[in-house]
Amino acid sequence: MLKPSAQRERVLELLEHEGGVTEESVRKVSRETGVPEADIWGTGLFYTLINKPGRRVRICDGLTCQMAGADELTEQLKAQGKTCERVSCLAQCDRAPATLDEDLELITYEGKLYGVTPDDPELPMNLAGEQDPSYSGLARARELGAEAVIDQIEASGLQGRGGAGFPAHFKWRSVLTQKEAERYVICNADEGEPGTFKDREIILRQPHKMIEGLAIAAWTIGANDIYIYIRGEFTNEIRSLQNAISEAEAKIAPIKIHVAMGHGAYICGEETALIEALEGKRGMPRLKPPYPTERGFRQKPTLMHNVETACCVPAIIHRGGEWFKAQGRTEPGSKLYCVSGHVNNPGVYELPLGVNLDELVEAAGGYEGTPLAFSPGGASSGFLPMKYRELPLDYKQLADVGSMLGSAGLVVLNDTVNLVQAVQWQLVFFERESCGQCAPCRIGTRYLSRQVDKFVQLGDEQALEMADDVGWEMEEGSICGLGMVAAKPLESAREHFPEAFASKARED
Ligand SMILES: Cc1cc2nc3c(=O)[nH]c(=O)nc-3n(C[C@H](O)[C@H](O)[C@H](O)COP(=O)(O)O)c2cc1C
Ligand code: SF4
Repeated sequence: MLKPSAQRERVLELLEHEGGVTEESVRKVSRETGVPEADIWGTGLFYTLINKPGRRVRICDGLTCQMAGADELTEQLKAQGKTCERVSCLAQCDRAPATLDEDLELITYEGKLYGVTPDDPELPMNLAGEQDPSYSGLARARELGAEAVIDQIEASGLQGRGGAGFPAHFKWRSVLTQKEAERYVICNADEGEPGTFKDREIILRQPHKMIEGLAIAAWTIGANDIYIYIRGEFTNEIRSLQNAISEAEAKIAPIKIHVAMGHGAYICGEETALIEALEGKRGMPRLKPPYPTERGFRQKPTLMHNVETACCVPAIIHRGGEWFKAQGRTEPGSKLYCVSGHVNNPGVYELPLGVNLDELVEAAGGYEGTPLAFSPGGASSGFLPMKYRELPLDYKQLADVGSMLGSAGLVVLNDTVNLVQAVQWQLVFFERESCGQCAPCRIGTRYLSRQVDKFVQLGDEQALEMADDVGWEMEEGSICGLGMVAAKPLESAREHFPEAFASKARED
């Protein structure tokens, strides 16, 4: 007999297995788990991959896909008799406008370009290189011992690659020193930030590097179980991951890996929301503290890392922390930058952390047209003008100019783009993805989106009069990072491109 909490953890998986939320499936899952039907309705309806049973084509609404003609594509597909749904980012910005068929398989269109940094054994992640399934880094970590492993992580200066750039060694040490013996490692493979698609490439090309990094982390902090939470739309990637896990099983024993699929909610990329989802609940962020390192999954100490962070670990153990640090220019290590929008060869490029926009776009085949603006790290990073084209793209220097590197999903916008419309697209994203539990975020995202619509329709600058105050409320009063930064696209565009907002009023 499973414990009640273990039954609860199965709710989402069972609903998915039953084909989504219907009266019948809810009744069945309730009978099987003992969780009340009302609770199952409330949980299931939160997730877009299971809340509307039925087959449909999904077309991405992200900034890059909008710029690449997602609206026109939707009309074409509808004209072919397809049932279509517009969804938040699909992590395929290099193949914009990204579209998934009814089986969540990517539909690829002719003429798409795709880039990845060339094979170079000196690169820590080396996406184009051969896989090394020997797991010798794990063996080396066992020889070194836990403290020495964490010393190397500290010497490497590794910052979490999921968005916040928090130093990894702090989290490892924090979990290691907890009194509670039951601990977990979670890998955040939910990759939902518009503009970002690097974790997808790691899972497809170097899954063993990532699994080895996670196994080293688990061994070091004394965890027996690793949970990989991977976004449910990653059909190919899930296959690749499961194959690699089967190959790795004997090498990492007694550590076990469990794969949990996301069910379609951007907010579940936030670490505490992810934990709630793993526990079979609505993905609503928790108040912090306590931090997951103290009380995370099942209220036990939990080390969570992004896929790319985990992927850096084997190279650090093999070649030493100082070596890894030296791979960066202004901050430690190399970085997977995702480049999309108006560049000739969108893709993932591994470069020293701290390259500037011009260097990155040169790797991506150059600008397409005349660049107007760029968004350096996903929707949350807002828009920057081209005067920052030589600014190092790192955590600190982007924060200093009021933006962020985030997950390094960089989008270039050329002068054919209507910037106010680009802001609208980003605001719709946040409005749709807010989990709704705190008022400043729930109401603020909706308010900002409506006011920009009003400004566009009426050309009335007064529509935006309250925007700064609302943005401030959201930043100060939201529980999690989504609400705190959701006003950024509008704020940054008004700051750096005031003419885009003034001209509308004059035109009309
Ligand atoms: C709204 C929101 C969405 C996030 N989405 C992701 C995500 O998709 N993938 C990810 O690794 N981190 C994401 N994060 C960051 C995580 O909360 C967490 O900081 C990260 O997984 C920790 O791993 P790291 O230390 O390796 O960066 C998100 C944060 C917020 C606030
Ligand atoms: S800030 Fe927004 S997304 Fe985050 S917990 Fe509050 S309502 Fe949910």
